[in-house]
Amino acid sequence: MRLFTLVAAACLTGSSWAASVPAELFSPLVASKFLQTAQNVPNPVQYPQYTDRSQGVWQYFPADYWTTGFLPASYYALHTRFASLCPNSSAAQQFLDLGRSLSAPEVALEQHTTVGHDVGFLSFPFVQELAVDSSNQTAVTAVNTFATLLADRFNPIVGCTRSWDTSDPTDFQVIIDNMMNLQVLFDSMALTGNTTLRDIAMSHADKTAQNHIRPDGSSYHVVEYNSTTGDVIRRRTAQGYADNSTWTRGQAWGIYGFANMYRNTNESRYIETARRMASFYLSQVPSDGIVPWDFDAPLDPPRPADSSAAMIATVGLLMLSQQEASLSPSNTTGAQYWSNAAIKLLSDNTAFAWKPEWQSLLSNGTVNNPASPPNNLTGIIYGDYYFVEAGNQLISMGLASCSGNSTSPASPSSSIQPGQQHTSGAPRTRRMWLL
Ligand SMILES: *[C@@H]1O[C@H](CO)[C@@H](O)[C@H](O)[C@H]1NC(C)=O
Ligand SMILES: *[C@@H]1O[C@H](CO)[C@@H](O)[C@H](O)[C@H]1NC(C)=O
Ligand SMILES: *[C@@H]1O[C@H](CO)[C@@H](O)[C@H](O)[C@H]1NC(C)=O
Ligand SMILES: *[C@@H]1O[C@H](CO)[C@@H](O)[C@H](O)[C@H]1NC(C)=O
Ligand SMILES: *[C@@H]1O[C@H](CO)[C@@H](O)[C@H](O)[C@H]1NC(C)=O
Ligand SMILES: *[C@@H]1O[C@H](CO)[C@@H](O)[C@H](O)[C@H]1NC(C)=O
Ligand SMILES: *[C@@H]1O[C@H](CO)[C@@H](O)[C@H](O)[C@H]1NC(C)=O
Ligand SMILES: *[C@@H]1O[C@H](CO)[C@@H](O)[C@H](O)[C@H]1NC(C)=O
Ligand SMILES: *[C@@H]1O[C@H](CO)[C@@H](O)[C@H](O)[C@H]1NC(C)=O
Ligand SMILES: *[C@@H]1O[C@H](CO)[C@@H](O)[C@H](O)[C@H]1NC(C)=O
Repeated sequence: MRLFTLVAAACLTGSSWAASVPAELFSPLVASKFLQTAQNVPNPVQYPQYTDRSQGVWQYFPADYWTTGFLPASYYALHTRFASLCPNSSAAQQFLDLGRSLSAPEVALEQHTTVGHDVGFLSFPFVQELAVDSSNQTAVTAVNTFATLLADRFNPIVGCTRSWDTSDPTDFQVIIDNMMNLQVLFDSMALTGNTTLRDIAMSHADKTAQNHIRPDGSSYHVVEYNSTTGDVIRRRTAQGYADNSTWTRGQAWGIYGFANMYRNTNESRYIETARRMASFYLSQVPSDGIVPWDFDAPLDPPRPADSSAAMIATVGLLMLSQQEASLSPSNTTGAQYWSNAAIKLLSDNTAFAWKPEWQSLLSNGTVNNPASPPNNLTGIIYGDYYFVEAGNQLISMGLASCSGNSTSPASPSSSIQPGQQHTSGAPRTRRMWLL
């Protein structure tokens, strides 16, 4: 049986369901597969991005690619798990060593990288290193350099950082994914005191809320601006089904990205946007709980799932849940609503995507379905990373224990208190959102 029994009967009223945390989240396979992946890393170092479709074997890419930070970031996340949440000092040390050794080859990207706005993703392991050792000068320099590279892409007329470079420099393209990269600006501001970085992040988020998010809370993937006038030229898709559809992973980046903007600023407009995007996302998940790669993709032929979009949304919803609790401690309905939704999304999508015989933890990720040929139904490194993060967050929120057994999300004793210590783990020594 894949899941522990449901804590409460599902779908009693359509809104009072409470699923349980999937046992796979804390399976020994999580650590052992990540250790095995480290053994398989080529020399010179390349990074796993996605697997093939039939055997689940990782495909490796050079450091200069937007996804390469996720492997070392996963090692740092596992270090956090074993250092403080589910103490095991030898495992903690092992994962810290791997995080350090596999982020080292990314230092060179400070001098030359073609990833553009995605320097934010590349910064993850360095930010995590600073949570372990704030005096590590290599990590300080990496975070500040990546932030400067992103800030250099800001255009004050448009009000955004440029996502993709184009042959016509007046065609200024911004993608919803870019919300995830703004965090490096806040991390660098914390190191340098340079508040211009926060101003850039807020301007970008405000423009994105204005031009990417539709009135119903859904999102466009790409908005093209004219860099000389600031006008919106076009709204379209790149990785979704159609220009007017909602690409599921983009919607998930948005939930996380706007909740994260609230975390960094306390500006209520950001949590309001995150709520609207989360409500839309949940309203579109079909009754079987399986997240498709695009919410508007046709059912025939069967539309591929995207387990990575489910994992990213899970972690975004858990952040939102913690924020509702801290915003208004009495708003337990809000906090529990989002955490229950997160756990259900996680359970439903782990149930079919968990793949013991593959090198990745999860299968059924869709990297890019409009690509030629379509790249769907694979393992994806960021799906696995957010799966690990979901486990860490659930433990720190008191909603799961290291054995994998869930506490009852619906019981009053598990009501969410950000910063609350988990009873059966070691005391938490720092806040959980490291990035
Ligand atoms: C701690 O982690 C090591 C791997 O580093 C593993 O061999 C050992 O079984 C773990 N101990 C416990 C109690 O889980
Ligand atoms: C400092 O951080 C870098 C990048 O994360 C890492 O490669 C290096 O091993 C760290 N140095 C020490 C002394 O821990
Ligand atoms: C703050 O950051 C911005 C963007 O990188 C930069 O233009 C500016 O020079 C920085 N200010 C200081 C005082 O370093
Ligand atoms: C942007 O506006 C300028 C000035 O009107 C125009 O020359 C240019 O072609 C426009 N660029 C695009 C991509 O629409
Ligand atoms: C997308 O929706 C807008 C607003 O409803 C509409 O004007 C436009 O024609 C639609 N585009 C496509 C390609 O369906
Ligand atoms: C947001 O508000 C909370 C609660 O007052 C406070 O603890 C936190 O430091 C604030 N964060 C920021 C970025 O201002
Ligand atoms: C409580 O949470 C719900 C659900 O997110 C939200 O709609 C509502 O505005 C929140 N109320 C307050 C006072 O924050
Ligand atoms: C998951 O992927 C496998 C192929 O790896 C496919 O056979 C299966 O139908 C997919 N499941 C869902 C729910 O999409
Ligand atoms: C999924 O990818 C495969 C392999 O590229 C392709 O043949 C298939 O058409 C894709 N599925 C859909 C529904 O697009
Ligand atoms: C999970 O909880 C059940 C019931 O309390 C218990 O019998 C079982 O041993 C627990 N499993 C683990 C792995 O801790």
